[in-house]
Amino acid sequence: MNIRSEGVLVTGASRGLGKELARAFARRGARVVLVARGRHDLEAATAQIRREGGEAHGLAFDVGDKAAVHRIAGAAAALVGPPSIVVHNASTLGAVPMPLLLDTDCEDLARVLDVNLVGPFRLTKALVGPMVLRRRGLFLFLSSDAAVSAYARWGSYGVSKAAQDHLARSFAAELDPVRFFSVDPGEMDTKMHADALPDADPTTLARPADVAERLVAIVARSGALVNGARLAAADFEPLRDGAAARDGAGAEA
Ligand SMILES: NC(=O)c1ccc[n+]([C@@H]2O[C@H](COP(=O)([O-])OP(=O)(O)OC[C@H]3O[C@@H](n4cnc5c(N)ncnc54)[C@H](OP(=O)(O)O)[C@@H]3O)[C@@H](O)[C@H]2O)c1
Repeated sequence: MNIRSEGVLVTGASRGLGKELARAFARRGARVVLVARGRHDLEAATAQIRREGGEAHGLAFDVGDKAAVHRIAGAAAALVGPPSIVVHNASTLGAVPMPLLLDTDCEDLARVLDVNLVGPFRLTKALVGPMVLRRRGLFLFLSSDAAVSAYARWGSYGVSKAAQDHLARSFAAELDPVRFFSVDPGEMDTKMHADALPDADPTTLARPADVAERLVAIVARSGALVNGARLAAADFEPLRDGAAARDGAGAEA
């Protein structure tokens, strides 16, 4: 899928993987909208992209807030036109340290599902209409190993990611040729990882910027992938020099 000049919306884009993805899309000429709650980090991320010569706009919203969804969609369309690439990257672990399921309050589980599952569901509904009409567009849902393997204390998060994988698959079954993929990015050196596993050695973890390049390669090559697939970022080599995406030479989705 072409990236240059496309409107791209990335949630959770003020730090970690989301920020690196926003930078990677902007480097290839996309017009990028970044969403996160904290204004300070969001402004720093958009300013960095502009300094690097890219187009970036920040929207400070909580993706788990029902009232925010149409405001995000409306503002994004006004800023860059209806987005044709959307990355559902914002996510919460829930309570930290993560409790066992029997110690998890129902309200905490509901909040994890609101941010990681219902928010992406609502935002997809709000943004997909123009893509259906144009018969082109792509959604990436950031998944996790915890969506397929059960780990003690990762229950709420894992349930939300497993359901999100199936949401992507189900949208693909209903809305093809609009493309939907869930992607496991692998373990990365980010705040989320440090919050979950503070004793992990950061040198053993992937750099978010490297993973972002692999995700851009998935977007550029998405025309060759089965719609609804669950992918692993590690299985995709970065584009050699970004030229395929910049020139629109990637397979058209
Ligand atoms: N790090 C890993 O090892 C790992 C492994 C597997 C999967 N993943 C997945 O990869 C994605 C990126 O993770 P990361 O490690 O880069 O996370 P991160 O460093 O914690 O960054 C999370 C981003 O999401 C934003 N965010 C959080 N809650 C939000 C909300 N309710 N509404 C809007 N924005 C929100 C944060 O900004 P604010 O707090 O200011 O809103 C921040 O920009 C997530 O989907 C995660 O589940 C990560």
